[in-house]
Amino acid sequence: MPRKILVTSALPYANGSIHLGHLVEYIQTDIWVRFQKMRGNECHYVCADDTHGTPIMLRAEKEGVTPEQLIARVWQEHFDDFSAFHVNFDNYGSTNSAETKAFAQGIYRTLKAEHLIDVRSIEQYYDPVKNMFLPDRFIKGECPKCHAKDQYGDNCEVCGAAYAPTDLIEPFSAVSGAKPELRNSDHYFFKLSAESCQAFLRQWTRGGSLQAEAANKMQEWLGAEGENKLTDWDISRDAPYFGFEIPDAPGKYFYVWLDAPVGYMGSFKQLCDKQGLNFDEYWKQGSEAELYHFIGKDILYFHALFWPAMLQHAGFRTPTKLFAHGFLTVNGEKMSKSRGTFITARSYVDHIKNTEYLRYYYAAKLNGTMEDIDLNLEDFVAKVNSDLIGKYINIASRCAGFISKKFDSKLGDTDAAASAEFKAAFDSNEIARCYEERDYARALREIMRLADVANQYIAEKAPWTMAKQEGKEQELHQVCSTALTLFRDLSLYLKPVLPELAAQVESFLNIEPIAWSGAWQALPAGHTINTYQHLATRLDPKLIEAMVAANQESLKNMTESHSEQRHAEHQQNVIEPIAETINIDDFGKIDLRVARIVNAEHVVGADKLIQLTLDIGEEKTRNVFAGIKSAYDPEKLKGRMTVMVANLAPRKMKFGLSEGMVLAASGSEPGLYILSPDDGAQPGMRIK
Ligand code: MSP
Ligand code: ZN
Repeated sequence: MPRKILVTSALPYANGSIHLGHLVEYIQTDIWVRFQKMRGNECHYVCADDTHGTPIMLRAEKEGVTPEQLIARVWQEHFDDFSAFHVNFDNYGSTNSAETKAFAQGIYRTLKAEHLIDVRSIEQYYDPVKNMFLPDRFIKGECPKCHAKDQYGDNCEVCGAAYAPTDLIEPFSAVSGAKPELRNSDHYFFKLSAESCQAFLRQWTRGGSLQAEAANKMQEWLGAEGENKLTDWDISRDAPYFGFEIPDAPGKYFYVWLDAPVGYMGSFKQLCDKQGLNFDEYWKQGSEAELYHFIGKDILYFHALFWPAMLQHAGFRTPTKLFAHGFLTVNGEKMSKSRGTFITARSYVDHIKNTEYLRYYYAAKLNGTMEDIDLNLEDFVAKVNSDLIGKYINIASRCAGFISKKFDSKLGDTDAAASAEFKAAFDSNEIARCYEERDYARALREIMRLADVANQYIAEKAPWTMAKQEGKEQELHQVCSTALTLFRDLSLYLKPVLPELAAQVESFLNIEPIAWSGAWQALPAGHTINTYQHLATRLDPKLIEAMVAANQESLKNMTESHSEQRHAEHQQNVIEPIAETINIDDFGKIDLRVARIVNAEHVVGADKLIQLTLDIGEEKTRNVFAGIKSAYDPEKLKGRMTVMVANLAPRKMKFGLSEGMVLAASGSEPGLYILSPDDGAQPGMRIK
């Protein structure tokens, strides 16, 4: 009996481009879905753009378009990017759809009827110029702990402290620059603290729906039995907001994370309407269909707590499993605009074109756990060229020519003994098991082991030598036919990862789409193949260099500073309000000096800091910890001149004593720029 399976990937935010980090998830999911379909299962893959929230509303406003126009444009961009990487959704929708709205409101109404909705007044910062309540990330100010300026309302990027926006010193709105006021407003809450929710989640967590690491996290969030650690979830936002209005609550909107996962249902409903599928068969409580959500580890909380609790209490089924994955690093570090390693899908396509190289590389790294995965650009080139081209493509390119030139493009008998040997050495069920468990790394290792065996066989038989010898025609024909049959099998196993290449192979071998059931059957003698044309070429490292350089180029004067902007997103470009007036004596108290950066190093265990050794003409150098790691490579700082506050009281930090501060500029947009004196300034000179 074919399984009925519904698969989703997380819905990407509609206010940013798809980048190589996102693609870890979509490629991983697409491979799994293709595998399930090849196995003959009824598998549906849906996704959508996540379109609601304050950042999208403000961005549209800034661009002078409506939110609807903005999300329509981004939808097309996202869709094109996914298509380029062969991510093949059965439906790609939008959370801003009639279907999602109906489900979100329906779920809300049921929860309310179940007494799981509460209304409470809360106090929140309000922007009196812009006339809106401000999300934490749109409030900035001075860190209450380390007094770093220009920090977000939820945590400090310099010292890492977490706090409430009301703790900020001299807060200002990142939207208008105005001083925010505290105001009260009614908010709607989903009562996650209710006994029924906690009890359900406790049981659900143990039900095998989570990877071990995720289940552990859940235990942490839930606390011990009877501890009732969960608090109610604020699901409403006040107008102006781009989203769905809450039924019977004028001016109140669903918080974006309430309707985002409901978008899975909305998108699937569209597919049902297109294809005549039965929605309830997949979503009603008691459904026997399987439901899987592929997600990044950063959004586990939403998918493992809120989402199942909502579904359970609204009469729907809960997910069969959540498949959480880790984050992408490039060359061992977080993707970085200044290093040129923040690579968008579009930029990859423009420079490298062949997107299956990346699919192959990611597959070779993915093992079904929540570990981060690293895209090492050198290793990427090496792996594509040695495995994909050197081991796999090479089999066809070395044997196909003889078939067309010497045997009129017709295959001959295969080498029965050799074929039996391959078959014995290799277990195709094992490959299937690896795919099923999302251990693609292991699947590819097995497949490449078979490719090695095939290459050994070809090397031993040396068809190129046979071709020059009299009376060896039959053997040559057999060797090449055997090798091409093996090549077909390899293509079968690689097909979930390399769908485009597999299609080219099918056309070259002149065969029907390769199915899992066709493994190990020899291609029949007398079968005519097409002339071999290059299936894939080596990956030129210059293309990678050019891509990285181009990314750096486009951001030449814009080093990034703030960590991920994803959940906060686009700040408006506003100037921080000018501080209170001071007199010349006040200014004179600050002793600014020209400093030479003698040494700069990473600080082990610190995300934001670089340790600087500064020469300001004194006998001894100064040690300063500067929160500039996100914007600068220590190597590039060495030898540079800058400006420091030389009479700032030394401060003891976790990593040692900081004896001053270097000056850097930053605004509401990402970017951090340390100051430099003009040429000729010497260490120790005073700045007045
Ligand atoms: N809109 C939410 C998801 C709502 S799902 C109902 C969101 N969007 S996102 O665009 O920020 O991320 C989409 C997916 O991509 C998430 O699963 C996220 O974890 C994943 N990734 C985003 N950046 C990533 C990396 N750098 N590395 C790996 N995956 C990453 O979250
Ligand atoms: Zn701080």
